[in-house]
Amino acid sequence: MKHLVVFVACISLCYGSTISRIPYDYSHYVDGESRFIWMPRDDGELVLVDLWEDINNRRESKTAGASNLYWLYTRRNPEEYQLLIHGNESSIINSNFQADKPTIVQVHGWSTTGGNSVFNRVTKKALLEVEDYNIIVVDWRAISTGSYVVSVNAVPSVGESIGLFVDWLLTTTDGSWNKVHLIGFSLGAHAIGNAGRAAGGRAARLTGFDPAGPLWRLNSNRLASSNGQYVEAIHTNAGVMGILIPVGDVDFYPNGGALQPGCGADPNCHHDRAYEFFAASISTGHLVGQKCEDLTEATAGRCSGTPLSLGGTDLNKRASGLYAMRTGDTWPF
Ligand SMILES: *[C@@H]1O[C@H](CO)[C@@H](O)[C@H](O)[C@H]1NC(C)=O
Repeated sequence: MKHLVVFVACISLCYGSTISRIPYDYSHYVDGESRFIWMPRDDGELVLVDLWEDINNRRESKTAGASNLYWLYTRRNPEEYQLLIHGNESSIINSNFQADKPTIVQVHGWSTTGGNSVFNRVTKKALLEVEDYNIIVVDWRAISTGSYVVSVNAVPSVGESIGLFVDWLLTTTDGSWNKVHLIGFSLGAHAIGNAGRAAGGRAARLTGFDPAGPLWRLNSNRLASSNGQYVEAIHTNAGVMGILIPVGDVDFYPNGGALQPGCGADPNCHHDRAYEFFAASISTGHLVGQKCEDLTEATAGRCSGTPLSLGGTDLNKRASGLYAMRTGDTWPF
């Protein structure tokens, strides 16, 4: 702790940066300008991230996707995954994969727990309750456990490998991209964008949960509406952990998209709400947004246009524009 305090003090003095010494205080953080940010990992640990970290000599980013692991869950094995191996047909034949069922691919963010992260557990459980999906949890913690900047740079490779793996899986099982829904949290939201792009935009649907903000606003590899047939983003900590600008065909800004009721000062809570709203939407469908004129109206959370349900599992969902609504402060919101 003593070392951390000295380190922070040095950063403030040495670089004249306006970094807050208090974790959870984001009042000094300006997306695209600030050098330092306290970032929570998915296990809640707060880490001071240097967004200008020089990673020129770190080559692992370019081949990061080679370390991806693909874990299959179905109703027959909701807790114990079966490992699917790219290029190994018997790993598919010997598994519970069902070609006639829709497939959901889940991708975590900056994380030490990877495929076991809370995001994966919450969404998998909610999904298997409503349908016997093939749920493929991608574990890329070989990279995501390290530096945030290295993880950001690894996202295109991680995503491309996912796209090529799913394409091989569909070819092998005579499946169709029309029955594939890619979902990703934080950095994982940008990873599914790259997966969708590698698949030529053929995936039926992509849903990004609070797509990561730091280092992404001007990044051409970020999640984009061209990455799939329908791309939806749910912004819950926009401007801090999440990206503020619209990135999909549809962008939801629940409660204005930045700060969520019931979360207090805990940045993880605001960020996590994005996939929690999705999980809640699967069983109840009660989270309905209204269309906004523009981003200003969306972030003010005062929109009165056409209604559209947030989330849900409809593979043929189609819409466009920005949407906002108010939610409750505890599950199911
Ligand atoms: C292919 O997958 C099966 C599991 O179904 C495993 O037993 C086998 O060792 C794998 N083969 C290779 C070459 O990885």
